[in-house]
This record gives sequence, structure tokens and C-alpha cells, in this order.
Amino acid sequence: MIAMDLEGAREMPDDGRPMKISRLCGALGAEVRGVDLARLDEAASAAIRDAFHEHLVLVFPDQDLAAGAQVAFTELFGAVEPHPLRTRRTVDGFPAVLIIENRKGRPGARNDYWHSDISHAERPPAVTVLHAIKVTEGRGDTMFCNMYRAYDALSEDQREALRGRRALHSGMATYTRSLEHNDARAIDRAEVKPPRAHPVVCTHPVTHRPMLFVNPHFTTRMEDMTEDESRPLLDSLYAAATRPENVYRHRWRVGDVVMWDNRCAMHYAVMDYTEDMARQLHRTTAAGAAPR
Ligand code: OGA
Ligand code: MN
Repeated sequence: MIAMDLEGAREMPDDGRPMKISRLCGALGAEVRGVDLARLDEAASAAIRDAFHEHLVLVFPDQDLAAGAQVAFTELFGAVEPHPLRTRRTVDGFPAVLIIENRKGRPGARNDYWHSDISHAERPPAVTVLHAIKVTEGRGDTMFCNMYRAYDALSEDQREALRGRRALHSGMATYTRSLEHNDARAIDRAEVKPPRAHPVVCTHPVTHRPMLFVNPHFTTRMEDMTEDESRPLLDSLYAAATRPENVYRHRWRVGDVVMWDNRCAMHYAVMDYTEDMARQLHRTTAAGAAPR
């Protein structure tokens, strides 16, 4: 049984440490303290799951999470799989734990565009988990925005205009980006094409709330329009989704674990660092279902 006091602190039954969940801003995101992700019991896992579906992005400071423990934690949310494009180095012995890194001689691949991960897949990942191993203080923040709120902010007419429509998502932009970098492995071309159609408005499989599911990195056009015709509509959706009031910006510290819901949040890696500013994150994803 989990007790919750007025401050939102939950009692964990195993060691009695209070788990405290604090909202990070108005749009999305909560910080979770008083929990060790390498040793979760049922009650703590359930509390994290509830908080995740409420806040979309969870930040767990000061975690000491070995690669295997990160996989086990991510598995609470779905099967952990290697990246389909295989563009990054992985942790030895853990092919599903990608190393996102920036260091001298190996500049990081850019992620400075709003996206949800691998949205061109038939079944894009439900959840992404990053664990900060090395950080240069105040550099390389990651931003997140809330795609439920992006949908909620549309007028009735705008919602009506999107009803039943689909957009095409393509891995081409990621492919092109990878060619520009000295990524560890050759990209698997079979995963790049063809573009895949997903509904523009999807229903979250757990919360059953409607959300926008398009993003400027992978989405190329509306299925029933040319790229040029689609541009104004898609751009207006992106502009609404990424208004500052709809964004949480995370400043990394070593030991942070940050997880986000790829179905109802987009993210953006701020590129304000140079090759000499160390940044290393371990990344895992939990498989999701086809968006609908
Ligand atoms: C990712 C990603 C953001 C970052 O790993 O999918 O977009 O800040 N990373 O590194
Ligand atoms: Mn990403």
C-alpha cells in the first residue's frame, strides 16, 4: 500500500525512503527523488508508471545505474530493442544500450531538431531512457514539449480538419545526418525506406488521450498533399507544439536518468557545445505499438 501525504511524498514499503515527485513546469515533466532505479519493488514501479503517464517526462537525479540495470528498468515499459538504424556505438555486452557521445575526435551526431524517436518505424518506441555518464555543466540541454497540450490547443475547426488524416514519416533525414558523421556502424538502408503513414492525431494507448503525432524531423508531408501543400499546415502544428509555455528544458547533471514518452512528447537536443566539451549518455528504448 502506498501512502501519499499532502506534499506528494510517497512511502516506499521496502526501505521506508520517501519517494517525492515534484512538477518541473506547467507543461510537462516531474522530478522524482528518493528512489533507486536499480532496486524497485512493485509499489515503486507502479508509482513511477502513474507519474510517467501524468507528467510524460520524469527526471531521476543521482542514479547509479549500470547498463544491465538500465535495460531492466526500461523493460518495465516494453521490450528493449537495439536501434533499427544501428548508427551508434553500444555498451560492450549490451547491444540495446546506445552511447550518445561527444568528445574530441568524435563529435556528437546532432539532434537539434524537434522529433519523437524513430517515428518512421511501423512501431516507434514508446519510451526512451537516457542516463547521463558525462556532462559539461550547462551545455547540451534537452528540451521536451507536450503533444497532448498541442492537440488540446487546436480549435474545433482545426481538429475537424485533421480528423482521419495521416502523415508520412521517413528515416531519410536521419540517414543523411549519419552520413555526415563518423558513426560506428554502417546504417541499414532497408530501415530507411519507404516512408510510413501514421495518423496525425493519435490516441495514447494507456491514457486514451488524443495527441498530435507529427514532428519536423521525420514527418515529410500529409499523405494526401504534396510537401509544398503540407508545409503551412505542418509548420502551424509544430509552432503550436513548441511554444515556450509548452516546453520543459532539462539541464543535465551526471547521474540523471531522464525518461520520456515518445508517443505524446517531442524532444530537441540543444547544440551549444563544441567537440572538446564531454557529453556521454546511455540510451535505451522500450518498444511501442503502431500509432493509432
Ligand atoms: C535521443 C536524443 C537527446 C540528447 O537520444 O534520441 O534525441 O539530448 N537525444 O542527446
Ligand atoms: Mn531523439
